[in-house]
Amino acid sequence: MRKCVCDTQNIEGLSHWYEKGLFLLKENSIIKKKLYMAERLYIFDTTLRDGEQVPGCQLNTVEKIEVAKAIESLGVDVIEAGFPISSPGDFKSVEEISKAVSLPVICALTRSVQKDIDVAFDALKYAKLKRIHTGIGTSDYHIQYKFNSNQEEIMQRAVAAVKYAKRYVEDVEFYCEDAGRTDNVYLARIVEAVIKAGATVVNIPDTTGYCLPTEYAEKINFLMENVNGIHNAIISTHCHNDLGMATANTMAGIMSGARQVEVTINGIGERAGNTALEEIVMTLRSHKELGVDTNINSKNISSVSRIVSNLMNMPIQANKAIVGRNAFAHSSGIHQDGVLKNIKTYEIIDPKDVGIDDNSIELTARSGRAALKYHLQSLGIELSQEKLDKVYEGFLKVADSKKYVTDDDLLMLAGKDRVDTHRIKLDYLYVTSGVGVDPKATIGLDIAGEKFEAESSGDGPVDAAINALKKIVNKKMVLQEFLIQAITKGSDDVGKVHMRVEYNGNVYSGFAANTDIVAASVSAYIDALNKFPD
Ligand code: KIV
Ligand code: ZN
Repeated sequence: MRKCVCDTQNIEGLSHWYEKGLFLLKENSIIKKKLYMAERLYIFDTTLRDGEQVPGCQLNTVEKIEVAKAIESLGVDVIEAGFPISSPGDFKSVEEISKAVSLPVICALTRSVQKDIDVAFDALKYAKLKRIHTGIGTSDYHIQYKFNSNQEEIMQRAVAAVKYAKRYVEDVEFYCEDAGRTDNVYLARIVEAVIKAGATVVNIPDTTGYCLPTEYAEKINFLMENVNGIHNAIISTHCHNDLGMATANTMAGIMSGARQVEVTINGIGERAGNTALEEIVMTLRSHKELGVDTNINSKNISSVSRIVSNLMNMPIQANKAIVGRNAFAHSSGIHQDGVLKNIKTYEIIDPKDVGIDDNSIELTARSGRAALKYHLQSLGIELSQEKLDKVYEGFLKVADSKKYVTDDDLLMLAGKDRVDTHRIKLDYLYVTSGVGVDPKATIGLDIAGEKFEAESSGDGPVDAAINALKKIVNKKMVLQEFLIQAITKGSDDVGKVHMRVEYNGNVYSGFAANTDIVAASVSAYIDALNKFPD
């Protein structure tokens, strides 16, 4: 482990040092009389770039801003907001996120191409703190097959791109795409060259998720030991999860001296995804002896995870580390017995540390706007007074019909006005179904201000309602995936529905949440319809 060591024989007044970020090192279970300063690890969140590249996860600009603000509330250091040259939508999103978010550095991705860099800088013009992330493929696969080039030419393009980006911004990050499969000697040469050209951060992506943790650790160690000037830049990890080793590889990188990690919320990202932010943050908090820590406000992890899952149509698997529904559920008799005797027998993380707090102040119909605002803030949602008033109206209705208003109810209420911008809106829905009754539905839609009504039967209430909807929206569309997430607490709780609908050869995702599961299903279908291009 590369770290800053503060040697001392004096461990009195430990809590004072502890608060200052100094940790005791435990070795072979014996507490050594040494204090280690926790080194800072920078968190670079790429949920809105690498995560958003995933089919079905695309967001519109309003949704991207919502996600960006939630991620900002976690205390990340850098938000990669998009790849501006790739589309006018991406350009606009980087521009709007730059206006809406002020604490983290806003980063834009480019290839090693001057036009990309020009456009990225233009998109970043409103950002308080800006970074250009440029790079090129460095493995033989990329050099030969993607670029039909050679190592020397790629090196020249890399150096030229960094120098060009430096004309615009001081903070330039360089990525060596497919570094995981790049020969270490060539990788060291290119890293040295881009640092000399002015790169402040150098990213070593395991683009294909191929590396073993030992291999990735060796790669970073090799760079640390063989690159002149390595300490003039921060080395960054960027690991994909194709073999399920993204978190292990990222930890291996940290333990070899990388001090920035590129991560996404819930590990979303290309193919099997990227390293999950929450896993790295909580691994470091659980292993203080590593002496590395982040600035993340871990209490917001659970709510930000839900916001991202809902908006990006990516359900979280129940057994997902840290944020899965079962992550803190002890179900076997032996485990429950142990936990009742002492929670530490089977629990290494206090669920409260990631924002799961069953004993928090409950919201009821008697709660005021201040309590609502406080709860929304703790979920990472900041609202204007006008929007808060609107959400409060909805909150009172929900609170009248339920004993307690849950975090999921609040997330649903706060996201409701997204529906106001939809071209197709659900006006009303009547459904009859039950045992011995033929399911029938009548639906009312508002399409760009015009009202339509249709009725139909079906193989169940959801099928009947969707059949009725199809009579109004006469398009060749096929429901490909329909996922209802389990209700966790009571029968009056919110059900979440994710749907994927195929239309004209493309797949569009929709999401909705409602205490009425049929209404949630139809709304999710309509959410997907609103993403059709025509
Ligand atoms: O996985 C990768 O190599 C990337 C780069 C573009 C940073 O996402
Ligand atoms: Zn990537």
